[in-house]
Amino acid sequence: MTHRFDSPTVILTGAGCRREAGSLLAAMKARRTLLVADPFFASGPFTREIAAALDGAGIQHEVYSGFQPDPTEENVRAGAACFREFQADSILALGGGSGIDVAKMVGVSVANPGPLREFQGYHRVPNRGPSVVVVPTTAGTGSEATKVAVITDTERRVKMMILDPGLMPAAAIVDYELTLSMPPPLTAHVGVDTLTHGIEAFVSRRANPLTDPIALASIDRVQRYLRRAWADPEDREAREGMALAALEGGLAFTNSSVCLVHGMSRPLGLAFGLPHGLSNAVLLPAVTRFSREGAVARYAGVARAMGLASPGNGDAYASEALVDRLDALNEELEVPRLRDCCGGDRERFRSTLEKMAADALDSGSPQNNPTVPAADEIMELYDSAW
Ligand SMILES: NC(=O)c1ccc[n+]([C@@H]2O[C@H](COP(=O)([O-])OP(=O)(O)OC[C@H]3O[C@@H](n4cnc5c(N)ncnc54)[C@H](O)[C@@H]3O)[C@@H](O)[C@H]2O)c1
Ligand SMILES: [Fe+2]
Repeated sequence: MTHRFDSPTVILTGAGCRREAGSLLAAMKARRTLLVADPFFASGPFTREIAAALDGAGIQHEVYSGFQPDPTEENVRAGAACFREFQADSILALGGGSGIDVAKMVGVSVANPGPLREFQGYHRVPNRGPSVVVVPTTAGTGSEATKVAVITDTERRVKMMILDPGLMPAAAIVDYELTLSMPPPLTAHVGVDTLTHGIEAFVSRRANPLTDPIALASIDRVQRYLRRAWADPEDREAREGMALAALEGGLAFTNSSVCLVHGMSRPLGLAFGLPHGLSNAVLLPAVTRFSREGAVARYAGVARAMGLASPGNGDAYASEALVDRLDALNEELEVPRLRDCCGGDRERFRSTLEKMAADALDSGSPQNNPTVPAADEIMELYDSAW
């Protein structure tokens, strides 16, 4: 079996590295950059600082912030119109997974005609777009180092996953100082998303020798730093640890894959308006309990990376300790239960299960899971997470 490993050409890390955005883009011959900035940052000091760095490098820029969390096709269309009007030649994203994914798909849209649904799935983007440089502001999705974008098709009510090597950012600028402003609930949700990336990358049927150590490093860092970053937003060491964990999580899963948690979380998030991190977090313990049997040794490896079991403990013990830990982690981080996120109406919830299970399977992600469930098993799993 052969494997392929994609990553950004350049990855900068460390406090203050955001200030190098201008020189990095100038080295790519950028002259006019569309700055896709998350609304939270759009008129704040970080955006002004980055704008100054672009000015310093002689790069003209225009800001686009007209998008929402868990962005839609309309958000991308408006960004692409902005890109064309400004006659940009490059894109700089400053935001969480939402801003980064909008930036990636604006790049795709200006280089490829047609609605975004034509690119849904694997390797369906014909032409490469302009260079995209990204500065993540949440320590979560790892989108700064993935060849993936997730965009909602509001007409068909589907969260489309678009995966293509052309979506890999040219450069990732991972400056943890941008994450210091995240409040504890956001820190928790995006942090459990990172943990899910590490675990799914490691247990995936497409895990491989290069992704394994990166996935385990990410898991180890989450175990050490997530609770600290949640308890004290100003804990710089913990914020740096989580920013690196998110980057590693992205590098790992984009070169193996995500699995059942992500497959189930996209339809759930869409149906009940849950942000991506939260919809993963509420499913992670139940799905891990279900999947454990299919790859006991792998889940035990995750448990050992988290220090939950020693090499002397058997795999069955270790993998069970992991499931217990995931339950406890959600509780410690005050992640709500699924029933509390979905309005508490179980009958209404049950009426959505058939479509959600079909959409989960359609995405392709569950097929990478150690145990591949049938649609009725997915419906039961949703119900068991309630
Ligand atoms: N492309 C990928 O590889 C990939 C992987 C996983 C998830 N995703 C997608 O990423 C999106 C979720 O991204 P996310 O979880 O990073 O959140 P996000 O980008 O949606 O941001 C969530 C909220 O936090 C705010 N915010 C962002 N940074 C902040 C900061 N530093 N301080 C305070 N507030 C801040 C935003 O304004 C927004 O309101 C979803 O659409 C999901 O499907 C993409
Ligand atoms: Fe995710």
